[in-house]
Amino acid sequence: MHSLLAIFTLIFTASTLQLPPALALTSCRTSCGSIDIRYPFGVDDGCGAPQFRGMFNCSSDLFFTTPSGSYKVQHIDYDKKTMVVYDPAMSTCSILQPHHDFVMTEIQSFIIRPTPDTVFALLNCSIDSPVLNHYKNLCFNFSEHSCDELYGSCNAFRVFHLLTNSSPPCCFTGYDTVKFMSMNILDCSHYTTVINVDNLKGIGPLDWVYGIKLSFSVPDAGCERCSLSGGTCGFDTETEGMVCLCSASTNATRECAAGSVTAGDGSNNFPWKFCYALVLISSVLMILLCN
Ligand SMILES: *[C@@H]1O[C@H](CO)[C@@H](O)[C@H](O)[C@H]1NC(C)=O
Ligand SMILES: *[C@@H]1O[C@H](CO)[C@@H](O)[C@H](O)[C@H]1NC(C)=O
Ligand SMILES: *[C@@H]1O[C@H](CO)[C@@H](O)[C@H](O)[C@H]1NC(C)=O
Ligand SMILES: *[C@@H]1O[C@H](CO)[C@@H](O)[C@H](O)[C@H]1NC(C)=O
Repeated sequence: MHSLLAIFTLIFTASTLQLPPALALTSCRTSCGSIDIRYPFGVDDGCGAPQFRGMFNCSSDLFFTTPSGSYKVQHIDYDKKTMVVYDPAMSTCSILQPHHDFVMTEIQSFIIRPTPDTVFALLNCSIDSPVLNHYKNLCFNFSEHSCDELYGSCNAFRVFHLLTNSSPPCCFTGYDTVKFMSMNILDCSHYTTVINVDNLKGIGPLDWVYGIKLSFSVPDAGCERCSLSGGTCGFDTETEGMVCLCSASTNATRECAAGSVTAGDGSNNFPWKFCYALVLISSVLMILLCN
């Protein structure tokens, strides 16, 4: 009985020993926390599209970095090509925090820009604010909401109301306004951002979703061909030219050679399998002889 158990244990160990080389296809992580990482994104240098290089980092959660800070990624929809990020330093209906600007690089505001259904609510603006004067027409009401509602419904914003005993001016506006004017120029002390504003008719500010929804474009660099051949799209870290990553030890320019991912690895492992078999047979013989 004991020898039989030993044999099973041996076979089991030998077969698991073979697994790791086959699983570790490339060094590109495919998830970070609960978020799937796929083309065009990557958290390891050389993975994904070079256009997004250095914008993401994975320190237990996935973060999107812009010149104004690191924003936690909450959701990526690869079909709709949208990503929702959250600025932990931003005010919301329930927390008031000192303002800071939301700034993106030129490239970012081109390839991963806030969607039209993301609204920036500028709060406690001075009466000299450009959005109350020359740029008045940049403010709008969405889904029948006025921004005064925020002062009335949100614990965080009630303070503006209390201090002055009136509602200081505010403005719902789009990303372009904050892109071209900093909070100092806008002369508003706080802001918050709300997403999916088209579906908020009849829903109060306590139940709005606060965050920024970004819409990304996917560079067409022949990634589909690489994926279909079993590879992962990446780029050369020096030239930033596209590379199709086939396995930990093979890169291709366009696509992985037919069967290189499965059959190729199998044939590479052949001598090892042979060794395992030898070890296994000799062990079995030894166990049988010793009993
Ligand atoms: C990575 O994300 C963290 C957020 O935890 C941020 O503080 C840090 O600056 C980021 N690092 C880089 C290199 O962007
Ligand atoms: C509102 O804005 C004014 C300047 O216009 C500022 O002095 C005041 O501190 C702000 N209120 C709060 C609660 O931050
Ligand atoms: C938004 O709604 C408020 C309150 O109903 C109204 O006073 C304001 O003029 C509206 N603003 C715009 C830009 O339509
Ligand atoms: C494949 O490309 C990746 C990304 O550029 C690089 O990190 C890796 O070293 C390359 N591997 C080989 C075997 O050339």
